[in-house]
Amino acid sequence: SVISITDVLAGKYPVNETITVHGWIRTRRDSKAGISFLAIHDGSCFDAIQAIVPNELDNYQTDVLKLTTGGAVKVTGTLVESPGQGQSFEIQATEVEVLGLVEDPDTYPMAAKRHSIEYLREHAHLRARTNIGGAVTRVRNTLAQAIHRFLHSKGYFWISTPLITASDCEGAGEMFRVSTLDMENLPRTDKGDVDYSEDFFGKEAFLTVSGQLNVETYCCAMSKVYTFGPTFRAENSNTSRHLAEFWMVEPEIAFADLAIAGDLAEEMLRYVFKALLEERADDMAFFQQRVDKTVIDRLNTVIEKDFVRMDYTDAIDILQNCGKKFENEVFWGVDLNSEHERYLAEEHVGGPVILQNYPKDIKSFYMRLNDDKKTVAAMDILAPGIGELIGGSQREERLDVLDERLAEMGLDPVDYSWYRDLRRYGTVPHSGFGLGFERLVAYATGIQNVRDVIPFPRTPNNAAF
Ligand code: 4AD
Ligand code: MG
Repeated sequence: SVISITDVLAGKYPVNETITVHGWIRTRRDSKAGISFLAIHDGSCFDAIQAIVPNELDNYQTDVLKLTTGGAVKVTGTLVESPGQGQSFEIQATEVEVLGLVEDPDTYPMAAKRHSIEYLREHAHLRARTNIGGAVTRVRNTLAQAIHRFLHSKGYFWISTPLITASDCEGAGEMFRVSTLDMENLPRTDKGDVDYSEDFFGKEAFLTVSGQLNVETYCCAMSKVYTFGPTFRAENSNTSRHLAEFWMVEPEIAFADLAIAGDLAEEMLRYVFKALLEERADDMAFFQQRVDKTVIDRLNTVIEKDFVRMDYTDAIDILQNCGKKFENEVFWGVDLNSEHERYLAEEHVGGPVILQNYPKDIKSFYMRLNDDKKTVAAMDILAPGIGELIGGSQREERLDVLDERLAEMGLDPVDYSWYRDLRRYGTVPHSGFGLGFERLVAYATGIQNVRDVIPFPRTPNNAAF
Protein backbone atom coordinates (compact mmCIF):
# COMPACT_ATOMS: atom_id res chain seq x y z
CA SER A 1 0.00 0.00 0.00
CA VAL A 2 1.05 3.63 -0.35
CA ILE A 3 3.09 4.88 2.59
CA SER A 4 2.04 8.18 4.16
CA ILE A 5 4.68 10.80 4.84
CA THR A 6 3.18 11.29 8.30
CA ASP A 7 4.13 7.72 9.21
CA VAL A 8 7.62 8.08 7.76
CA LEU A 9 8.30 11.26 9.73
CA ALA A 10 6.86 9.63 12.86
CA GLY A 11 9.52 6.90 12.66
CA LYS A 12 7.24 4.02 11.74
CA TYR A 13 9.71 2.65 9.18
CA PRO A 14 13.19 1.25 9.89
CA VAL A 15 16.19 3.41 9.00
CA ASN A 16 18.77 2.27 6.46
CA GLU A 17 16.12 0.38 4.55
CA THR A 18 14.60 1.17 1.18
CA ILE A 19 11.35 3.06 1.14
CA THR A 20 9.08 4.57 -1.55
CA VAL A 21 7.03 7.72 -1.03
CA HIS A 22 4.63 9.57 -3.31
CA GLY A 23 3.80 13.25 -3.24
CA TRP A 24 4.14 16.70 -4.69
CA ILE A 25 7.13 19.00 -4.71
CA ARG A 26 6.92 21.87 -2.25
CA THR A 27 10.35 23.19 -3.22
CA ARG A 28 13.47 22.10 -5.09
CA ARG A 29 16.90 23.38 -4.17
CA ASP A 30 20.11 22.47 -6.03
CA SER A 31 23.59 22.61 -4.52
CA LYS A 32 26.70 23.48 -6.43
CA ALA A 33 28.01 20.02 -5.66
CA GLY A 34 25.42 18.49 -7.98
CA ILE A 35 22.83 17.42 -5.45
CA SER A 36 19.17 18.39 -5.42
CA PHE A 37 16.98 18.64 -2.35
CA LEU A 38 13.31 17.96 -2.89
CA ALA A 39 10.77 18.82 -0.20
CA ILE A 40 7.89 16.41 -0.83
CA HIS A 41 4.46 16.63 0.78
CA ASP A 42 1.46 14.35 0.42
CA GLY A 43 -1.13 16.31 2.40
CA SER A 44 -1.11 13.86 5.30
CA CYS A 45 0.63 16.30 7.63
CA PHE A 46 2.01 19.81 7.62
CA ASP A 47 5.64 18.81 7.12
CA ALA A 48 7.31 17.73 3.92
CA ILE A 49 9.97 15.04 3.79
CA GLN A 50 13.30 15.89 2.23
CA ALA A 51 14.71 13.69 -0.52
CA ILE A 52 18.38 14.11 -1.37
CA VAL A 53 18.91 13.41 -5.04
CA PRO A 54 22.46 12.92 -6.41
CA ASN A 55 23.26 13.91 -10.00
CA GLU A 56 24.41 10.35 -10.70
CA LEU A 57 20.81 9.33 -11.28
CA ASP A 58 20.19 8.54 -14.97
CA ASN A 59 17.31 10.93 -15.27
CA TYR A 60 18.82 13.71 -13.15
CA GLN A 61 19.22 16.17 -16.03
CA THR A 62 16.16 15.09 -17.98
CA ASP A 63 13.63 14.79 -15.14
CA VAL A 64 14.81 15.89 -11.71
CA LEU A 65 16.00 19.31 -12.85
CA LYS A 66 12.61 19.91 -14.44
CA LEU A 67 10.74 19.43 -11.18
CA THR A 68 9.15 22.55 -9.79
CA THR A 69 6.64 23.34 -7.04
CA GLY A 70 3.51 21.28 -7.60
CA GLY A 71 5.14 18.52 -9.64
CA ALA A 72 4.20 14.95 -8.70
CA VAL A 73 6.82 12.30 -7.93
CA LYS A 74 7.45 8.80 -6.71
CA VAL A 75 10.74 8.63 -4.85
CA THR A 76 12.56 5.49 -3.75
CA GLY A 77 15.63 5.54 -1.55
CA THR A 78 17.21 4.79 1.79
CA LEU A 79 15.53 6.20 4.85
CA VAL A 80 18.08 7.91 7.10
CA GLU A 81 17.97 10.01 10.23
CA SER A 82 18.18 13.64 9.29
CA PRO A 83 21.27 15.49 10.50
CA GLY A 84 19.54 18.84 9.97
CA GLN A 85 17.35 20.31 12.66
CA GLY A 86 13.57 20.37 12.41
CA GLN A 87 13.33 17.16 10.43
CA SER A 88 13.45 13.67 11.90
CA PHE A 89 14.12 11.63 8.76
CA GLU A 90 15.07 12.09 5.12
CA ILE A 91 15.51 9.94 2.06
CA GLN A 92 18.71 9.34 0.12
CA ALA A 93 17.07 8.89 -3.26
CA THR A 94 18.11 6.10 -5.61
CA GLU A 95 15.21 6.55 -8.00
CA VAL A 96 12.99 9.52 -8.84
CA GLU A 97 10.03 8.87 -11.07
CA VAL A 98 8.25 11.95 -12.34
CA LEU A 99 4.52 11.30 -12.36
CA GLY A 100 3.45 14.73 -13.54
CA LEU A 101 5.37 17.91 -14.24
CA VAL A 102 3.89 21.37 -13.84
CA GLU A 103 3.34 22.48 -17.42
CA ASP A 104 4.38 26.09 -17.22
CA PRO A 105 6.01 26.83 -13.85
CA ASP A 106 6.02 30.58 -14.47
CA THR A 107 2.25 30.71 -14.64
CA TYR A 108 1.51 27.97 -12.07
CA PRO A 109 -1.10 29.68 -9.85
CA MET A 110 0.20 28.04 -6.66
CA ALA A 111 3.89 28.84 -7.16
CA ALA A 112 5.93 28.80 -3.95
CA LYS A 113 5.28 32.26 -2.56
CA ARG A 114 2.88 33.85 -0.15
CA HIS A 115 -0.57 34.24 -1.69
CA SER A 116 -3.31 36.37 -0.20
CA ILE A 117 -6.25 34.49 1.24
CA GLU A 118 -8.54 36.22 -1.29
CA TYR A 119 -6.35 35.01 -4.15
CA LEU A 120 -6.51 31.45 -2.83
CA ARG A 121 -10.30 31.72 -2.60
CA GLU A 122 -10.42 32.47 -6.33
CA HIS A 123 -8.40 29.31 -6.97
CA ALA A 124 -10.43 27.04 -4.72
CA HIS A 125 -9.65 23.99 -6.87
CA LEU A 126 -5.91 24.37 -6.19
CA ARG A 127 -5.74 25.85 -2.71
CA ALA A 128 -5.60 22.52 -0.85
CA ARG A 129 -2.02 22.30 -2.18
CA THR A 130 -0.86 25.27 -0.15
CA ASN A 131 0.31 25.17 3.45
CA ILE A 132 -2.77 26.98 4.68
CA GLY A 133 -5.16 25.01 2.47
CA GLY A 134 -3.77 21.70 3.71
CA ALA A 135 -3.78 22.83 7.35
CA VAL A 136 -7.42 24.00 7.17
CA THR A 137 -8.46 20.74 5.55
CA ARG A 138 -6.82 18.61 8.23
CA VAL A 139 -8.21 20.76 11.07
CA ARG A 140 -11.69 20.61 9.56
CA ASN A 141 -11.44 16.85 9.36
CA THR A 142 -10.18 16.49 12.93
CA LEU A 143 -12.99 18.68 14.26
CA ALA A 144 -15.65 16.73 12.35
CA GLN A 145 -14.28 13.37 13.50
CA ALA A 146 -14.02 14.64 17.09
CA ILE A 147 -17.65 15.76 17.03
CA HIS A 148 -18.81 12.36 15.84
CA ARG A 149 -16.57 10.63 18.37
CA PHE A 150 -17.77 12.80 21.25
CA LEU A 151 -21.45 12.33 20.49
CA HIS A 152 -21.01 8.62 19.82
CA SER A 153 -19.24 8.21 23.17
CA LYS A 154 -22.19 9.89 24.87
CA GLY A 155 -24.67 7.51 23.26
CA TYR A 156 -26.01 9.81 20.54
CA PHE A 157 -27.24 8.31 17.27
CA TRP A 158 -26.34 10.05 14.03
CA ILE A 159 -29.51 10.56 12.02
CA SER A 160 -29.44 11.33 8.30
CA THR A 161 -32.02 14.06 7.87
CA PRO A 162 -33.23 15.07 4.40
CA LEU A 163 -31.76 17.91 2.40
CA ILE A 164 -34.96 18.37 0.41
CA THR A 165 -37.88 19.47 2.53
CA ALA A 166 -41.20 21.24 2.50
CA SER A 167 -40.85 23.03 5.85
CA ASP A 168 -39.03 26.22 6.74
CA CYS A 169 -37.55 25.33 10.13
CA GLU A 170 -36.38 28.81 11.02
CA GLY A 171 -39.37 30.54 9.43
CA ALA A 172 -37.10 33.18 7.97
CA GLY A 173 -38.12 32.61 4.36
CA GLU A 174 -34.55 32.10 3.25
CA MET A 175 -34.97 28.87 1.37
CA PHE A 176 -33.69 27.77 -2.02
CA ARG A 177 -36.44 26.27 -4.13
CA VAL A 178 -36.00 22.78 -5.57
CA SER A 179 -38.04 22.40 -8.72
CA THR A 180 -38.09 20.68 -12.08
CA LEU A 181 -40.68 23.06 -13.52
CA ASP A 182 -39.83 24.75 -16.80
CA MET A 183 -39.01 28.31 -15.74
CA GLU A 184 -39.93 29.69 -19.13
CA ASN A 185 -43.29 28.04 -19.14
CA LEU A 186 -44.57 27.77 -15.58
CA PRO A 187 -47.91 25.99 -15.04
CA ARG A 188 -50.47 28.33 -13.47
CA THR A 189 -53.54 27.80 -11.30
CA ASP A 190 -56.85 29.49 -12.13
CA LYS A 191 -55.80 32.31 -9.80
CA GLY A 192 -52.58 32.78 -11.74
CA ASP A 193 -50.23 31.39 -9.08
CA VAL A 194 -47.53 28.90 -10.00
CA ASP A 195 -49.09 25.45 -9.88
CA TYR A 196 -46.67 23.36 -7.85
CA SER A 197 -48.94 20.34 -7.98
CA GLU A 198 -47.32 19.80 -11.36
CA ASP A 199 -43.84 19.97 -9.88
CA PHE A 200 -41.63 16.93 -9.15
CA PHE A 201 -42.81 16.46 -5.56
CA GLY A 202 -46.38 17.57 -6.23
CA LYS A 203 -45.86 20.56 -3.96
CA GLU A 204 -43.35 23.27 -3.21
CA ALA A 205 -39.99 21.90 -2.08
CA PHE A 206 -36.82 23.53 -0.80
CA LEU A 207 -33.30 22.83 0.38
CA THR A 208 -33.32 22.51 4.16
CA VAL A 209 -32.17 25.39 6.39
CA SER A 210 -31.81 23.04 9.37
CA GLY A 211 -32.33 19.35 10.10
CA GLN A 212 -33.85 20.14 13.48
CA LEU A 213 -37.53 19.42 12.89
CA ASN A 214 -36.71 16.06 11.33
CA VAL A 215 -34.21 15.12 13.99
CA GLU A 216 -36.77 15.98 16.69
CA THR A 217 -38.91 13.12 15.39
CA TYR A 218 -36.05 10.69 16.01
CA CYS A 219 -35.27 12.31 19.36
CA CYS A 220 -38.82 11.52 20.46
CA ALA A 221 -38.08 7.82 19.94
CA MET A 222 -34.33 7.32 20.33
CA SER A 223 -33.74 9.91 23.13
CA LYS A 224 -30.26 11.10 22.13
CA VAL A 225 -29.67 11.90 18.48
CA TYR A 226 -27.92 14.38 16.21
CA THR A 227 -27.77 15.35 12.60
CA PHE A 228 -24.61 16.61 10.92
CA GLY A 229 -24.87 17.67 7.32
CA PRO A 230 -25.12 20.51 4.84
CA THR A 231 -27.77 23.20 5.25
CA PHE A 232 -28.70 25.99 2.88
CA ARG A 233 -29.74 29.59 3.36
CA ALA A 234 -30.61 32.07 0.68
CA GLU A 235 -29.91 35.02 2.94
CA ASN A 236 -28.28 37.77 1.00
CA SER A 237 -25.72 38.59 3.64
CA ASN A 238 -22.29 39.21 2.25
CA THR A 239 -20.46 38.87 5.54
CA SER A 240 -17.42 36.94 6.69
CA ARG A 241 -19.67 34.68 8.79
CA HIS A 242 -22.37 33.68 6.31
CA LEU A 243 -22.43 31.04 3.62
CA ALA A 244 -25.32 29.99 1.40
CA GLU A 245 -24.28 26.36 1.98
CA PHE A 246 -22.82 25.46 5.35
CA TRP A 247 -22.59 22.41 7.57
CA MET A 248 -24.41 22.17 10.87
CA VAL A 249 -24.17 19.81 13.85
CA GLU A 250 -27.54 19.53 15.59
CA PRO A 251 -27.83 17.37 18.72
CA GLU A 252 -31.31 16.83 20.12
CA ILE A 253 -31.84 15.50 23.65
CA ALA A 254 -35.05 14.05 25.09
CA PHE A 255 -36.06 14.61 28.73
CA ALA A 256 -33.74 17.62 28.77
CA ASP A 257 -34.20 21.30 29.50
CA LEU A 258 -32.21 24.22 28.12
CA ALA A 259 -29.53 23.95 30.81
CA ILE A 260 -28.74 20.39 29.76
CA ALA A 261 -28.38 21.47 26.12
CA GLY A 262 -26.04 24.27 27.21
CA ASP A 263 -23.95 21.84 29.23
CA LEU A 264 -23.67 19.47 26.28
CA ALA A 265 -22.57 22.29 23.97
CA GLU A 266 -19.95 23.42 26.44
CA GLU A 267 -18.62 19.90 26.97
CA MET A 268 -18.55 19.24 23.24
CA LEU A 269 -16.57 22.39 22.44
CA ARG A 270 -14.10 21.54 25.15
CA TYR A 271 -13.69 18.00 23.87
CA VAL A 272 -13.16 18.96 20.23
CA PHE A 273 -10.66 21.73 20.99
CA LYS A 274 -8.66 19.37 23.19
CA ALA A 275 -8.65 16.78 20.42
CA LEU A 276 -7.56 19.45 17.95
CA LEU A 277 -4.63 20.65 20.04
CA GLU A 278 -3.50 17.06 20.57
CA GLU A 279 -3.99 15.70 17.07
CA ARG A 280 -3.01 18.66 14.94
CA ALA A 281 -0.24 20.34 16.88
CA ASP A 282 1.62 20.83 13.59
CA ASP A 283 -1.18 22.75 11.89
CA MET A 284 -2.09 24.69 15.02
CA ALA A 285 1.51 25.87 15.38
CA PHE A 286 1.26 27.16 11.81
CA PHE A 287 -2.02 29.02 12.47
CA GLN A 288 -0.57 30.48 15.64
CA GLN A 289 2.49 31.72 13.81
CA ARG A 290 0.96 32.88 10.55
CA VAL A 291 -2.72 33.65 11.10
CA ASP A 292 -3.52 34.54 14.70
CA LYS A 293 -1.01 34.77 17.54
CA THR A 294 -3.72 34.24 20.15
CA VAL A 295 -5.48 31.23 18.68
CA ILE A 296 -4.06 28.50 20.92
CA ASP A 297 -4.57 30.61 24.06
CA ARG A 298 -8.14 31.18 22.97
CA LEU A 299 -8.82 27.47 22.67
CA ASN A 300 -7.16 26.81 26.00
CA THR A 301 -9.42 29.40 27.62
CA VAL A 302 -12.44 27.52 26.30
CA ILE A 303 -11.01 24.26 27.61
CA GLU A 304 -10.20 25.63 31.06
CA LYS A 305 -12.83 28.26 31.91
CA ASP A 306 -16.52 27.64 32.52
CA PHE A 307 -18.77 29.45 30.07
CA VAL A 308 -20.63 32.41 31.53
CA ARG A 309 -24.43 32.09 31.35
CA MET A 310 -26.43 35.28 31.09
CA ASP A 311 -30.08 36.16 30.51
CA TYR A 312 -30.93 38.31 27.51
CA THR A 313 -32.59 40.81 29.86
CA ASP A 314 -29.38 41.22 31.88
CA ALA A 315 -27.38 41.54 28.67
CA ILE A 316 -29.58 44.43 27.58
CA ASP A 317 -28.90 46.08 30.93
CA ILE A 318 -25.17 45.63 30.51
CA LEU A 319 -25.19 46.99 26.96
CA GLN A 320 -27.26 50.01 27.94
CA ASN A 321 -25.04 50.89 30.87
CA CYS A 322 -21.57 50.07 29.55
CA GLY A 323 -20.98 53.58 28.27
CA LYS A 324 -20.21 52.37 24.76
CA LYS A 325 -21.90 53.94 21.76
CA PHE A 326 -23.37 51.28 19.45
CA GLU A 327 -24.50 51.90 15.90
CA ASN A 328 -27.77 50.09 16.55
CA GLU A 329 -29.90 51.15 19.46
CA VAL A 330 -30.20 48.76 22.41
CA PHE A 331 -33.60 48.21 24.02
CA TRP A 332 -35.47 45.22 25.43
CA GLY A 333 -36.94 43.28 22.52
CA VAL A 334 -34.27 44.14 19.97
CA ASP A 335 -32.52 41.38 18.03
CA LEU A 336 -28.89 41.79 19.01
CA ASN A 337 -26.41 42.76 16.29
CA SER A 338 -22.93 41.40 15.98
CA GLU A 339 -21.52 44.61 17.54
CA HIS A 340 -23.55 43.85 20.68
CA GLU A 341 -22.68 40.17 20.68
CA ARG A 342 -19.02 40.90 20.24
CA TYR A 343 -19.03 43.46 23.03
CA LEU A 344 -20.54 40.92 25.41
CA ALA A 345 -18.15 38.10 24.50
CA GLU A 346 -15.00 40.10 23.86
CA GLU A 347 -15.12 43.02 26.25
CA HIS A 348 -17.60 42.18 29.00
CA VAL A 349 -16.88 38.47 29.51
CA GLY A 350 -13.60 37.84 27.67
CA GLY A 351 -14.64 34.36 26.61
CA PRO A 352 -17.64 32.40 25.37
CA VAL A 353 -20.98 33.40 26.84
CA ILE A 354 -24.28 31.54 26.75
CA LEU A 355 -27.00 34.11 26.30
CA GLN A 356 -30.44 32.76 27.10
CA ASN A 357 -34.15 33.48 27.49
CA TYR A 358 -34.71 35.78 24.53
CA PRO A 359 -37.92 37.71 23.78
CA LYS A 360 -40.27 35.36 21.96
CA ASP A 361 -40.94 37.79 19.14
CA ILE A 362 -37.41 37.60 17.78
CA LYS A 363 -37.20 33.81 17.92
CA SER A 364 -38.61 30.78 16.10
CA PHE A 365 -42.05 29.22 16.58
CA TYR A 366 -40.76 25.97 18.09
CA MET A 367 -39.00 27.48 21.11
CA ARG A 368 -40.53 26.80 24.52
CA LEU A 369 -42.45 29.68 26.06
CA ASN A 370 -41.22 30.62 29.53
CA ASP A 371 -43.58 31.21 32.46
CA ASP A 372 -43.23 34.99 32.03
CA LYS A 373 -44.99 34.52 28.64
CA LYS A 374 -42.62 37.10 27.16
CA THR A 375 -39.46 35.09 26.67
CA VAL A 376 -38.57 31.69 25.28
CA ALA A 377 -36.04 29.10 26.48
CA ALA A 378 -33.55 29.88 23.74
CA MET A 379 -29.79 30.17 23.87
CA ASP A 380 -27.06 31.56 21.66
CA ILE A 381 -23.42 30.79 22.38
CA LEU A 382 -21.35 33.82 21.52
CA ALA A 383 -17.59 33.61 21.17
CA PRO A 384 -14.94 36.31 20.91
CA GLY A 385 -13.95 37.03 17.33
CA ILE A 386 -16.75 35.14 15.63
CA GLY A 387 -19.96 36.04 17.48
CA GLU A 388 -22.74 33.46 17.32
CA LEU A 389 -21.27 29.97 17.19
CA ILE A 390 -24.33 28.07 18.37
CA GLY A 391 -28.07 28.65 18.44
CA GLY A 392 -30.38 26.36 20.37
CA SER A 393 -33.43 26.05 22.55
CA GLN A 394 -35.77 23.93 24.58
CA ARG A 395 -38.58 22.93 22.24
CA GLU A 396 -42.25 23.65 22.91
CA GLU A 397 -43.59 20.23 23.87
CA ARG A 398 -47.11 21.41 24.88
CA LEU A 399 -49.52 21.08 21.96
CA ASP A 400 -51.84 23.88 23.01
CA VAL A 401 -48.99 26.35 23.47
CA LEU A 402 -47.39 25.28 20.19
CA ASP A 403 -50.67 25.82 18.36
CA GLU A 404 -50.99 29.29 19.86
CA ARG A 405 -47.49 30.13 18.70
CA LEU A 406 -48.15 28.82 15.18
CA ALA A 407 -51.28 30.95 15.01
CA GLU A 408 -49.46 34.03 16.35
CA MET A 409 -46.85 33.65 13.66
CA GLY A 410 -49.36 33.05 10.89
CA LEU A 411 -48.16 29.50 10.24
CA ASP A 412 -50.58 26.86 9.01
CA PRO A 413 -50.90 23.95 11.50
CA VAL A 414 -51.68 21.64 8.55
CA ASP A 415 -48.13 22.13 7.29
CA TYR A 416 -46.83 21.05 10.69
CA SER A 417 -49.18 18.12 11.29
CA TRP A 418 -46.33 15.61 11.56
CA TYR A 419 -44.49 17.93 13.96
CA ARG A 420 -47.67 18.34 16.01
CA ASP A 421 -48.01 14.53 16.19
CA LEU A 422 -44.88 14.43 18.36
CA ARG A 423 -46.82 16.57 20.86
CA ARG A 424 -49.93 14.41 20.57
CA TYR A 425 -48.35 11.00 21.07
CA GLY A 426 -46.23 10.72 24.20
CA THR A 427 -44.80 14.21 24.23
CA VAL A 428 -41.67 14.89 26.31
CA PRO A 429 -39.54 17.90 27.13
CA HIS A 430 -36.60 18.05 24.76
CA SER A 431 -33.85 20.47 23.81
CA GLY A 432 -31.14 20.86 21.25
CA PHE A 433 -28.87 23.21 19.41
CA GLY A 434 -27.16 23.86 16.11
CA LEU A 435 -23.43 24.48 15.80
CA GLY A 436 -22.32 26.20 12.60
CA PHE A 437 -19.42 24.01 11.57
CA GLU A 438 -17.59 26.61 9.45
CA ARG A 439 -17.82 29.13 12.26
CA LEU A 440 -16.25 26.50 14.52
CA VAL A 441 -13.39 25.90 12.07
CA ALA A 442 -12.86 29.65 11.65
CA TYR A 443 -12.82 30.11 15.41
CA ALA A 444 -10.40 27.22 15.91
CA THR A 445 -7.92 28.41 13.28
CA GLY A 446 -8.18 32.18 13.67
CA ILE A 447 -9.14 32.47 10.00
CA GLN A 448 -11.38 35.50 9.62
CA ASN A 449 -13.73 34.41 6.86
CA VAL A 450 -15.84 31.26 6.77
CA ARG A 451 -15.31 31.13 2.98
CA ASP A 452 -11.75 30.05 3.65
CA VAL A 453 -12.57 27.05 5.82
CA ILE A 454 -14.95 25.18 3.47
CA PRO A 455 -13.52 23.59 0.31
CA PHE A 456 -15.92 25.24 -2.15
CA PRO A 457 -17.71 28.25 -0.64
CA ARG A 458 -21.17 29.15 -1.89
CA THR A 459 -22.10 32.81 -1.48
CA PRO A 460 -24.26 35.33 -3.38
CA ASN A 461 -23.09 35.47 -7.00
CA ASN A 462 -20.60 32.70 -6.45
CA ALA A 463 -21.20 29.05 -7.21
CA ALA A 464 -18.00 28.48 -9.17
CA PHE A 465 -16.33 25.04 -9.38
O1 4AD B 1 -29.21 29.87 14.95
P1 4AD B 1 -29.60 28.98 13.81
O2 4AD B 1 -30.37 29.56 12.71
O3 4AD B 1 -30.36 27.76 14.48
C1 4AD B 1 -30.99 26.74 13.84
O4 4AD B 1 -30.99 26.54 12.65
C2 4AD B 1 -31.62 25.75 14.77
N1 4AD B 1 -32.63 25.00 14.01
C3 4AD B 1 -30.55 24.87 15.36
C4 4AD B 1 -31.08 23.87 16.34
O5 4AD B 1 -31.54 24.24 17.39
N2 4AD B 1 -31.01 22.59 16.03
O6 4AD B 1 -28.28 28.32 13.20
C5 4AD B 1 -27.41 27.57 14.01
C6 4AD B 1 -25.98 27.97 13.77
C7 4AD B 1 -25.67 29.44 14.06
O7 4AD B 1 -25.43 29.64 15.42
C8 4AD B 1 -24.44 29.67 13.21
O8 4AD B 1 -23.28 29.19 13.86
C9 4AD B 1 -24.68 28.78 12.02
O9 4AD B 1 -25.64 27.82 12.39
N3 4AD B 1 -25.17 29.54 10.86
C10 4AD B 1 -24.45 29.80 9.76
N4 4AD B 1 -23.18 29.50 9.45
C11 4AD B 1 -22.72 29.90 8.23
N5 4AD B 1 -23.48 30.58 7.33
C12 4AD B 1 -24.77 30.89 7.61
N6 4AD B 1 -25.50 31.54 6.70
C13 4AD B 1 -25.30 30.51 8.88
N7 4AD B 1 -26.51 30.64 9.48
C14 4AD B 1 -26.40 30.05 10.68
MG1 MG C 1 -29.27 31.84 15.45
